Amino acid sequence: MDWLESKGRSRIEEMTRTIEELIPDYLRGLPVYVPGKPIEEVERELKIQAVKLASNENPLGPSPKGIEAAKAVLADANRYPDGGAHRLRETLAERIGIAPEEIFVGLGSSEIIDLASRVLLRAGLQGLTSDGTYAPFSVAIRASGAELVLVPQRHYAFDLNAMTEAITPKTGLIYLANPNNPTGSAFTAREFGDFLEKVPDGVLVVLDEAYIHYAVSVGLRDSVEAYRKRKNLLILRTFSKVYGLAGLRIGYAIGTAELLTAMNKLRTPFNTSGVAQAAALAALDDKEHVERCIAANAIERKRLSEGLTKLGLRPVVSEANFVFVPVGPDAKEVSDELLHLGVIVRPLGWMGLPEAIRISVGVTEENEKCLAALGQVLAKRAGTSELAAR
Ligand SMILES: Cc1ncc(COP(=O)(O)O)c(C=O)c1O
Repeated sequence: MDWLESKGRSRIEEMTRTIEELIPDYLRGLPVYVPGKPIEEVERELKIQAVKLASNENPLGPSPKGIEAAKAVLADANRYPDGGAHRLRETLAERIGIAPEEIFVGLGSSEIIDLASRVLLRAGLQGLTSDGTYAPFSVAIRASGAELVLVPQRHYAFDLNAMTEAITPKTGLIYLANPNNPTGSAFTAREFGDFLEKVPDGVLVVLDEAYIHYAVSVGLRDSVEAYRKRKNLLILRTFSKVYGLAGLRIGYAIGTAELLTAMNKLRTPFNTSGVAQAAALAALDDKEHVERCIAANAIERKRLSEGLTKLGLRPVVSEANFVFVPVGPDAKEVSDELLHLGVIVRPLGWMGLPEAIRISVGVTEENEKCLAALGQVLAKRAGTSELAAR
């Protein structure tokens, strides 16, 4: 052992650091993602029949064409999937009218949210989003080591003007969701165009359109038109919502080849399964299923929103497949009481909105069960507070 080696050895022996200390402070402080409670867990724990209106899933199920296509490729599961998702990318590109190099296929849009920050941000830079929006945006920014800048919302919607005012020379990217989760509000193509004009070329706007099919005031083509004019835009879409394939984990992004190449370098080599790719391809062609789901959602969203209004609540006008409703400071207790009546909704304290719950739009019976249960919970609470006031 020469001198240098022995010096290194003794230094290693003196090392007292623990693995935990290796975890950077910005990761320690991150909240854990709180998923909707699984229906089986609630039914087992509470010994009741439950409906799950907590994760904005498609209550009408997967695209039947998607299921058939997935089944057909299961027998090839011994082979690795097409790591570049070529057929899916080519099909999407042709339909959208862009090049296949401008499509990135990801393990749900969740993977792409994370990759955007990993590619562009680092310590010393800032990532911008809003409070009252999808929590993984903040997590992605903080996990990159960059500083998280949160701009307050106005009336449960993005304040796009305030967001442009919060841009600094350190801003690397901005996350927006349109329609927004969890509030369900949406901005128009015009509002977005005005916003984009004020964003410098060197700042990427990540526009998450997970719920775009359900929107009324903005359409699928709007953001693509904006992208044709301004390339500092990354549009995220998913097969988890209207196509009903949340369990298969597949989504995609539209963006410049340069940015997508960098994201491809960081993603895992086979990020989406062959089953998911096949199902997504077939689901794209299942126009009938898509149209049925959009129509049913519109009817049921109206039923739910009107029902909530009749209960004396003021739900936010929703352009998605869920309804956001403020119920007061004890929203968590309201949601726990609903759980005991067999209705799983989402309390939103972990998203910075402790006064509200989010109810996913279900099928008619599920929505009626939810409204009846909420009516019961609110009546009981009103009775209790009346007694307390005497
Ligand atoms: C705004 C938003 N983006 C992304 C996702 C995640 O979608 P995916 O299933 O494609 O990862 C969700 C899921 O609820 C969402 O609400």
